Amino acid sequence: MGEPHESRIYSDFARFYDSVFGRVFVDHEHEVIESLNFRPGHRVLEVGVGTGITLDAYPPYVHIVGIDPSADMLAQAAAKARENDWGHIELRQGDAQNLDFPDNSFDFITSFHVMTVVPDPVRKMKEMVRVCKPGGKIVVINHFSSPHPVLYALNTMINPITKHLGWTTRLRVSDVLNGQPIKLERNDRVSTFSVHHVIVARKEDSAGA
Ligand SMILES: C[S@@+](CC[C@H](N)C(=O)[O-])C[C@H]1O[C@@H](n2cnc3c(N)ncnc32)[C@H](O)[C@@H]1O
Repeated sequence: MGEPHESRIYSDFARFYDSVFGRVFVDHEHEVIESLNFRPGHRVLEVGVGTGITLDAYPPYVHIVGIDPSADMLAQAAAKARENDWGHIELRQGDAQNLDFPDNSFDFITSFHVMTVVPDPVRKMKEMVRVCKPGGKIVVINHFSSPHPVLYALNTMINPITKHLGWTTRLRVSDVLNGQPIKLERNDRVSTFSVHHVIVARKEDSAGA
């Protein structure tokens, strides 16, 4: 096991995810989703939907597609959708780095705590921008490494350990944002050893795919 996405944490521990990681992430993710201006008929793609801890935060008048490569994580999300009779939610297996959707398909692309898990986060971001409609929104919550050289060096030192657990500590926010045809509307940071970001970006109107 070499890369974060190969960690078995997202398969073996899917049943316990909500009571461990989910508990830490859920309130903040709901708060950010509830701040978005959804309109009836909007199409939303959640990339790396996991066990679906966000699903009840979306209004029922939007259509949500949630993708994740882990069948075990998706099974937990599917159980929530079934129990709540959520006909507006569609769940499928998929890879953030090769999104199986045409260009300009969604009004919102959301992705929470997945950027530091995939092998190629820049490609993931490009794919999210590609499938977003011009003028649509890309919404990311993730921790990123501090750009400060000393903190970045420390993050690099602990990376071999966190990679085994299932995420990298080396990714900087500039690595994924620079060069994309997007305009940042929100980039809130809680700066500590690593930096926790809430990013809301609008795909430029002139950007095709
Ligand atoms: C830390 S969990 C976050 C799950 C969910 N977004 C949340 O906030 O609870 C990381 C998720 O990324 C998923 N993942 C791993 N590799 C991926 C990939 N290539 N494409 C999409 N999701 C991926 C994992 O299966 C897991 O569900």
